[in-house]
Amino acid sequence: MPLELLRLSTAGSVDDGKSSLIGRLLYDSGGIYDDQLQAIGRASRNGALELAFVTDGLRAEREQGITIDVAYRYFSTKRRKFIIADTPGHEQYTRNMATGASTAQVSLVLMDARKGVLPQTIRHAFIAWLLGIRNFVVVVNKMDLVGFREDVFEGIRRQFESVQDRLDGAHFYFVPVVATDGDNVVQPSKRMDWFNGPSVLEYLETVPVAESANGRPFRMPVQHVIRAEDYRGYAGQIVSGSVAVGDEIEVFPSRRKVRVARIPSFQGDLMEAFAPMSVSLCLDDHVDVSRGDVLADTTNPPQSSRTFRARVVWMSEMPLAANRPYLLKHMSQIVCGEVTKIHSRLDLTNLSEQPAISLGLNDIGIVTLQTHRSLFCDPYQVDRKTGSFIFVDPITNLTVGAGMIEEVQEDRASRARTAIPDGVTVWLTGLSSAGKSTLSRAVYERLWARGHRVELLDGDEVRQHLSRGLSFSKEDRNENIKRIGFVAEMLARHGVIAIVSAISPYREVRDEVRARITNFLEVYVNAPIGTCEERDVKGLYRRARAGEIPGFTGIDDPYEPPLSPEVECRTDRETIAESAQKIVDAVEARLSESREDYLPDSPMTRL
Ligand code: ADX
Repeated sequence: MPLELLRLSTAGSVDDGKSSLIGRLLYDSGGIYDDQLQAIGRASRNGALELAFVTDGLRAEREQGITIDVAYRYFSTKRRKFIIADTPGHEQYTRNMATGASTAQVSLVLMDARKGVLPQTIRHAFIAWLLGIRNFVVVVNKMDLVGFREDVFEGIRRQFESVQDRLDGAHFYFVPVVATDGDNVVQPSKRMDWFNGPSVLEYLETVPVAESANGRPFRMPVQHVIRAEDYRGYAGQIVSGSVAVGDEIEVFPSRRKVRVARIPSFQGDLMEAFAPMSVSLCLDDHVDVSRGDVLADTTNPPQSSRTFRARVVWMSEMPLAANRPYLLKHMSQIVCGEVTKIHSRLDLTNLSEQPAISLGLNDIGIVTLQTHRSLFCDPYQVDRKTGSFIFVDPITNLTVGAGMIEEVQEDRASRARTAIPDGVTVWLTGLSSAGKSTLSRAVYERLWARGHRVELLDGDEVRQHLSRGLSFSKEDRNENIKRIGFVAEMLARHGVIAIVSAISPYREVRDEVRARITNFLEVYVNAPIGTCEERDVKGLYRRARAGEIPGFTGIDDPYEPPLSPEVECRTDRETIAESAQKIVDAVEARLSESREDYLPDSPMTRL
């Protein structure tokens, strides 16, 4: 049976002796390579092995090139394998500490016996706890410098009690250690006979860690779509749960349900795959799945919202400010977002929440957050991966904070006070010459005359710029529709009514756009193909019949009419004025419905 793997992270201040402790764990368990030993021998003064050189040397290498400075060290014993995220203890490195702890199961909290519990120790322990770690080994180091006294050790343990009380559900194991000499690191110390507990390593070899991503709902963000002839695979890492051939899964945001047809791999097809495997899935239906979409359990889907309450660890010199745009990276997608309210900042001296208007470097606080697009996520407690995100500064592109979703909130209620009410997307679909362009202009003029903010997105025009160069293949038509949908969604966020007129022959992609937009009205501009051909406004039907335009919609290319459009206009029977009025009425009805959610005294309701 393969050895069980335990992931460790470290927490503490500078000079607590972390490097020596890690070096000692590696050395005594045989995890240091010969060449490294020789190098240490050369670098060490007065003959003694300076184990700190092993880890410090490694770190120096890494410091040159990367911003997040986490060195992962591996070692194993007969009972377990270990990965230890070695992170620096300096104040400004909280970010690294959080990175190292984000996947760990046990945190080693280091302290200098002479100094006791420092603010940095508390901060790191708290972050580790926030990140979901429940097992802590509190290593009280440098016991030789306090004369191996039990009362000093007990004093520190008591000092730590107030921290412990705040970290719900956490378990703490205290060990007195001399990392440089190895006392109680791997072997029990002969110099502290008052201590009878297991050494650090013994404890790490036996501590039960039940945590596993399996058994939890299936989540897989799509990182890559693999297209080949008669093969389409969706590749990504399963972040939690498992999936088997034949399972029904749901695609977010389109919410289409499909079954898993195959799980191909280098070793042949798999029947089942688990977190944290990276796999590619083939689905039994040609649904459209793109990068950033999330594949999930149908019985236990993720939540979807644009409003969240989150715990934030700020990592930038530039304070977190409310109502300033940031980029939020959540799994494989990036969305725009802003903090609409800062609720509190953690006071590290007593771990209490204090009112705050901003969060500075290393501050930990609670905020309400609004994103421009929906996230498909879970609270951090439910899933570490789908429940966390990072803040990226849109100008410097640096990671400036980390967030953990505490609560996914109801969208509309909280948006009422803060944002502009959504506009409406009016989507006119139908055959060429069915009357879409004429009708869209008529609707545009009427809405404009009634004081609305309106914009027109006409297929013919869009194909001159936004979609220039796209063909009329199924793929390119769908690409065209997605681009128009993207712009319409943006306009909608600013309260604008966007009138789209495009053949948009494929139902699935229309539905996909619908799923992304709060107020979406599909208008089926319906005229029998015969009528359209008779009208032949641009003379294209004639040319298509003559074989000059292959793949012309309605002639030798499909058109899939909407199944339940919000409005249908029979342009062969109704006048333009009648049809236009139907649409205007539907738009205004939708607007007043959706704006009921906004507070009456909001200036935005006057839009
Ligand atoms: S869509 O299919 O991608 O939604 P869109 O509305 O942008 O189409 O453009 C349709 C217009 O392109 C038609 O009104 C017509 O003028 C022109 N066109 C050129 N080739 C074709 C074709 N093969 N099928 C349909 N329309 C075409």
